Parts: sequence; C-alpha cells; structure tokens
Amino acid sequence: MADDKKPTGPDLTQGVPLSELADGGMLVGHVGDDEVLLARRGGEVFAVSAHCSHYHGPLAEGLLVGDTVRCPWHHACFSLRTGEPLHPPALSPIDCWKVEHSGGHVVVKGKHETKSFARPKPVVAAPDKVVIVGGGAAGFAAAEMLRRQDFKGSIVMLSDDEASPVDRPNLSKDYLAGNAPEEWIPLRGDDYYKDNGIELRLKAKVAAIDPRAKEVSFVDGGVTPYNRLLLATGAEPVRLQLPGADLPHVHTLRTLADSSAIIAQAKEAKRAVVIGASFIGLEVAASLRARKIEVHVVAPEKRPMERILGPGFGDFVRKLHEENGVVFHLEDSPVAIEAKQVKLKSGGALEADLVVMGVGVRPRTALAEKAGLKVDRGVVTDTFLETSVPGIFAAGDIAKWPDLYSGQAIRVEHWVVAERQGQTAALNMLGFRDRFNAVPFFWSQHYDVPINYVGHAEKWDEIEVEGDIAGKDCLVRYKVKGRTMAAASIYRDVASLQAEVVMEQETS
Ligand SMILES: Cc1cc2nc3c(=O)[nH]c(=O)nc-3n(C[C@H](O)[C@H](O)[C@H](O)COP(=O)(O)OP(=O)(O)OC[C@H]3O[C@@H](n4cnc5c(N)ncnc54)[C@H](O)[C@@H]3O)c2cc1C
Ligand code: FES
Repeated sequence: MADDKKPTGPDLTQGVPLSELADGGMLVGHVGDDEVLLARRGGEVFAVSAHCSHYHGPLAEGLLVGDTVRCPWHHACFSLRTGEPLHPPALSPIDCWKVEHSGGHVVVKGKHETKSFARPKPVVAAPDKVVIVGGGAAGFAAAEMLRRQDFKGSIVMLSDDEASPVDRPNLSKDYLAGNAPEEWIPLRGDDYYKDNGIELRLKAKVAAIDPRAKEVSFVDGGVTPYNRLLLATGAEPVRLQLPGADLPHVHTLRTLADSSAIIAQAKEAKRAVVIGASFIGLEVAASLRARKIEVHVVAPEKRPMERILGPGFGDFVRKLHEENGVVFHLEDSPVAIEAKQVKLKSGGALEADLVVMGVGVRPRTALAEKAGLKVDRGVVTDTFLETSVPGIFAAGDIAKWPDLYSGQAIRVEHWVVAERQGQTAALNMLGFRDRFNAVPFFWSQHYDVPINYVGHAEKWDEIEVEGDIAGKDCLVRYKVKGRTMAAASIYRDVASLQAEVVMEQETS
C-alpha cells in the first residue's frame, strides 16, 4: 500500500463467490495490506495490484481489454497474466497473485514471482552496442525496453541535460505548483542505471553523427561508436524575439532546471505574465495560481486551445481559468518586456515580475539534418521508426512517422507517444519487426480538471459532444466525413479508453 488507508473490500484470501464476479467484471478486495483487483474473463479469474504503477490510478475504474487492464487516468495497459506494463506511461510492472477455484469460490493465494518479460529472440543477431541520443521520454523508454528484452550488449544514453531522465509532464503541473517534491521527478534513481548496465552520460552534447563511420562525436571532443543508433533529441521551447526577451525574469519551460528556476522566481513574484494560451502556458498559469501569484495570460488567438479542442472546449478552458483568477488578454501579443512590465501590441502594459513564454517548441532535428537523414518538419521514419539511413532510428517529438489510423505522416509532441515509440524503436533495433501502430494519447491537467485526448485531428468537419463540457462530464469527438479522428474527454475515462480501443482495432 502506498498510503496508510485501511484496505477496502473483502479479504480475498477467504475467497469470494465466483457468482459475484460477472464475466468481464472487476472487484477490489485485499490480501493483507495490499489492495487487489480481481478480474474475470470467461472461466479465468486474475488477481493483480488494484493500483497503476504510474501515478497509482484505480485500475478497477479502467477497462478490461482481452487479458489486459487499462488505467483510467493516462491509459497505461498491463497484462493480467504477468503484470507487464504493456503501454506507457507505466514502465514498472504490477504484482500478480495466484488464484484458486474451490467450491464455487475464488481464493487468492500468494504472489507470483516476477518473471522475465523478454520475448523469444528474433532470428537476426542482436547488435553489440546501442547508442541513444536523448535522455528524455523516448530515450529512457528505449533503454528500459532493451534491458526488458534481456539485451546483453552495451547501452550508452547521451543527454545534454544536467538531470537524469525526468517526469517532464510534472514540471508544469504538481512540481511547479509545489505539490510534488523534487525526489518524485526523476524517472528512476541513479542506482537504476548502474544496476541495469546503462551508461548514462549527462551534460554530453552530441555535435554530429557520422553514419558511414557509425559514430557520434561530442561538442567537447571525443567520439563513441555504435551498431544501432536511436535519435530522441526531443524539442526546444521557442523564445519570442522581442526586446527584453532575454531578461533574467523571462523563462521558458522544458527541463527540471527551467521549472526550478521558475519556482525560485515565484517565491518572490507577485504578478506573472504567461505568454501563450495552449497546454504548457495554461498549466503554468494554473500552477502559479496555486502559489497565489496574480496571473495574466497574453495570446493572439480568440479562444485558448481552440485549434486543438474546438470552440466549446476553448470557452470552457477560459472560464475554468477565469474562475481560478486568471486574467486573459486574448487577440493581443507582447511587443517588449521590461524589468517590471510587459508591453502589449494593443497599447497597454501589464505589470510583471515573472514572465513565462509557452509559445510552442521546435523539434531538435539539426543532428539528423547534418547527418543527411531525410527531414521534413521532423525526422522522417518508416512504420518501424527507422530513418532514411538503415540502423538509425528516431522516436519522440522529432519523429515523423506514417500514422496507420489517419494514413498521414504525422509528428506529435506527447509524452506517451514518445515512450511508446522509444519502446518500438528498441524492439526493432534488436531485430524484431514491430510496426508503430499506437493511437496517439495525451493528457493535460488544469486545477482539478484532467483533459484526456486520443487520436489526432488537425482539422475536422464535425464536432460531436456527448455529455456536457461546462459540467465537466463529456466525450467530444472530432470527425472527418463521419469518421472519428480524435476524442477529448473530461471525467469520462472509460469512454475515452473505449474510443482508443476502437481506433486501435483499425490499426492492428
Ligand atoms: C513542462 C512540460 C509538460 C508537458 N506535459 C505533457 C503532458 O501532460 N502530456 C503529454 O502528453 N505531453 C506533455 N509534454 C510533452 C512531453 O514531455 C514530450 O512530448 C516528451 O518529453 C517528448 O519526449 P522526447 O524523448 O522526444 O524528448 P525529451 O523528453 O525532450 O528528451 C530529449 C532529450 O534529448 C536531449 N538532447 C537533445 N539534443 C541533444 C544533443 N545534441 N546531445 C545530447 N542530448 C541531446 C535532451 O537533453 C533530452 O534529454 C510536456 C512537456 C513539457 C516541457
Ligand atoms: S496513473 Fe495509471 S497511467 Fe497514469
């Protein structure tokens, strides 16, 4: 148990009648202090941890799909048979217990030992050395998957960041709001890299890749060779070119150091201006409000997030932030920043002792371009995430891949997509031939309101609203010629999971 609460539900070691668990049903009970989920599929009953290994989401409120369970909060997926985390954002397994049937009852016995999750080896030989450029979502998930598959060769992970891989989505949410301590932020402790033989080199900026010599060189000098290379360099925040944009109280947000710098400034600040009204900007606004700072948001659009979520959601998001004290200055933009104020195009000025720019990111494709890889507003890959140069793969914010659902080559900037791509690239570097067929998913959090989004819709000809956006209970479908391309939801987690499964069925 992660908290001190008494475990709920029946004592499963005493057994529960099978008749109380319908086919496809779930029930939460306990084994000692552990909350355990019983899930029934036909005649089979599985017993696994009741909570997700990502942020402790309640799996019983999720969805059973075949012999898997999906988490309601951020769509992680676990095998009911082995506990393997099949889909990120969960990267750790959940526990599994032995189940016995006796006299019409299901009785839960001791825990199963954790087994290896490695698949049977592919016929081709594994490489000796994999180099991963990038210590973020995709890079970390790739390294983890290589070791999960019992890869015995060397793994070198290179990152120009000073911090080991971190839970980046948290940097604009609970960590920035002051609700998550810094020790929650690393994806793994330092021991993990040592114990798993992953050579993590921090502050190691790669200058170039030589695909002919199969080596990468560093800005500080030196080279390292590779047999397979994963490029997972992510994206960098755009800094508007304005007078005053480089002043010390003007921030962008990508790294742990960026978030910590905003927190340090927020301790003194009374009034903040956030430039940009999309996800990062508005998450920052919400977190600064949690710190009781007066927040003004300046953005050129008419409604926040309208381009991605449509006008109904846009109005809702605006109202939600206004109810929490944020003041919007829409259809306006900053023209200059001074030590104590931001000047606006409309002629006014806003007082600010803290300014955060959340105006989008640029994929870090320079290494790929220099190495002669095909780049077209993203590093172009095939369905196996291999780039135009054999042996070099790309994943995460830089990758532009043929999306099987939309039939378009797309690039997205989502945490879970980056992790899943890192995993697929890792498998394919080992010689498996896995197509990347995941349906994109992201989540965003504003105060107590989570927004989940599955699919990818850059445009639509119809928006269908089930439920009530303003009432914070909805599933909104974005359709093209009657086909759902994406669905956004608030507190309709099962419907969101179901929408994802329907889309997956078309791509599997
Ligand atoms: C504050 C914040 C909040 C977010 N919240 C959400 C969210 O709620 N939901 C969601 O779906 N997405 C969210 N995202 C987006 C998500 O974090 C990204 O899509 C994801 O991190 C992309 O993973 P990546 O591995 O491609 O890149 P990154 O995680 O950015 O990792 C890139 C790595 O490459 C390294 N690197 C780059 N160039 C070099 C070089 N030349 N040499 C060496 N190393 C290099 C970087 O240092 C870094 O370690 C958020 C992003 C931010 C910044
Ligand atoms: S809590 Fe389960 S996926 Fe995040």
